[in-house]
Amino acid sequence: QCMGLGERLSDVNLRGRRHTLFNYSDNLHIPSLDTMYVSIPFLVIANRHRNQYHGIFLDSPAWQSWSLDQELNNRGVVDLLSRRGWSLYIMEADCLPDLIAAYTALTGRSKIPPDWALGHHQSRWSYPDQETLLAVGKRMRESEIPCDCLVLDIDYMDEYRVFTHSKERFPDFKKVIDELDSMGLKTTCILDPGVKKEEKFSVYADGKKRDFFVRRGDQRPFLGKVWPGPSVFPDFLRHDVRVWWSAQHGFFVDNNIAGVWNDMNEPCLIDSPCPMPPQSKELPPEDRQMFMQTLPEGKVGHFEVRNLYGFQMARASFEGLLALRPDERPFVLTRSGYAGVQRYSAVWLGDNMSWWEHLALSVPMLINMGLSGVPFTGVDVGGFGDDCSAELLTRWYELGIFYPFFRNHSSMLGVVQEPWVFGEETEARIRHLEIGSDCSSSIQETVPLS
Ligand code: GLC
Repeated sequence: QCMGLGERLSDVNLRGRRHTLFNYSDNLHIPSLDTMYVSIPFLVIANRHRNQYHGIFLDSPAWQSWSLDQELNNRGVVDLLSRRGWSLYIMEADCLPDLIAAYTALTGRSKIPPDWALGHHQSRWSYPDQETLLAVGKRMRESEIPCDCLVLDIDYMDEYRVFTHSKERFPDFKKVIDELDSMGLKTTCILDPGVKKEEKFSVYADGKKRDFFVRRGDQRPFLGKVWPGPSVFPDFLRHDVRVWWSAQHGFFVDNNIAGVWNDMNEPCLIDSPCPMPPQSKELPPEDRQMFMQTLPEGKVGHFEVRNLYGFQMARASFEGLLALRPDERPFVLTRSGYAGVQRYSAVWLGDNMSWWEHLALSVPMLINMGLSGVPFTGVDVGGFGDDCSAELLTRWYELGIFYPFFRNHSSMLGVVQEPWVFGEETEARIRHLEIGSDCSSSIQETVPLS
C-alpha cells in the first residue's frame, strides 16, 4: 500500500495511478483531477503483514510526477523536472508512527495551536458588512452552538487591497471585532498574495520601491489578475521580502484579528490556464516560467520552486504574528503548501463541493495529509461549492467535529449554510452533537491500511 504525497484527491491507497505534484488551483474536484493545492513529495510504503514501513522523501519543490504501479508491474517511477539539485531520503520503521516521527524530525513538527483554533469556525464567502458579521456571532450565542471563531473572507477589504478594510461596510472594524471577542468569538481574516497594482496604494508603492515583487524573464514586472484586478506578487523566497510582509501583519494585530488565512497562494490567477500542463515532459526555459524568483545563489524560474510559494507565504504570516504578539501562539491557515508546512500553518483542502462524495472523500484525503506530516487539517464542512441541504449539513457536522481543523465555509454562489438556516430540527441536531458513549464502539473500529 502507498500513502501520503500530501493533498491527493484519492482514496488512502495511492497505487494504480499517477500523481502530479505541482501546486495548482482547480475548483472542480473530480476523480480525474491530478494537481492539487498542496504538494508533499513524501511517500509511505506499507507492508503491514511484514511490519515494514518505508518512507521516500524527494526534497525538491519543482514539478514532479509519481507513477505508482500504474502498469500493475509493482513498480513506481518518479519524473522530476528540475535543473537544480535535490535530496532523496529513504527511511524505514517497524510501525507507521515511528516512520512519521522520522519524517517530521527532518521536516519539522506542528506547534500547538491556540486553543480557540481547535474549536468550531464559522465562515462564508463573504460576510459583507459588520452588521451581518455581528448578527452571525449573536445568533451563534443565542442558539448555544459552541463556536470559537468567525471568519472574514475577501469582502472585508477595501476593493481587495491587502491589509485594509472597507470603511463603508466595516466602518467600526476593530470595535466589532472587540465586541465579538468579548462574546468569546475570535475573528480571522483572509489574506491573498496578490497586491493591487495601484500607485496610490501604499503596500504596492512601498513593495515596488524596494523591488520586492516578482519580475518576468525579460525583467518587466509580472502582472496577474486576481480579485483586485491586475496585481503584483511578492517574492516570498526572499528573507527580506518575508520580513516586510510579516511586518504588514501589524494591520491585523492592531485590529485584534486573531489569525490569518492565506489563500490563492499557489499562486492562483483568475482566468489563466494551468501554468504547466500536468502531462508535461519538459521544463520550459528558465525565463519562460511565468516569472523569476530569487534563491540565495541567484535567480530561478518559478516552476522549479513553485511548490514553495504558499509555504513561504504561510511562514511570513506565522513569523509576523509571532513577532507582533510574542506571547500568543499564532494561528495561520493556508491553502497551498509543501513538505514542512506544518511548522507554520494549518491546511484546509480548498474548494470542495456540497456533495456526499466529497464528505466521504474528506476522510482518506485528511489521512494522507496526516501521513505527510501535516496534522492540523480539515475540509469545508457542508461543502464549499453548490447547494448544501439539511441532511448533508447535519451529517457533515457529525463528521466535522472529528476533523482537527473544523470550519463551516461556503461559496457565495450556493445557499447559505450556517447551522440554523435549515430550520429548528437541523439546528437542534447540530447543537447536540457530541462524542457520546454511543459513538465509542464505532471509534474503535479502525480501517485496515493494507
Ligand atoms: C478561494 C478559496 C475560498 C474562498 C474564495 C474567495 O476559492 O478557496 O475558500 O472563499 O477563494 O476568497
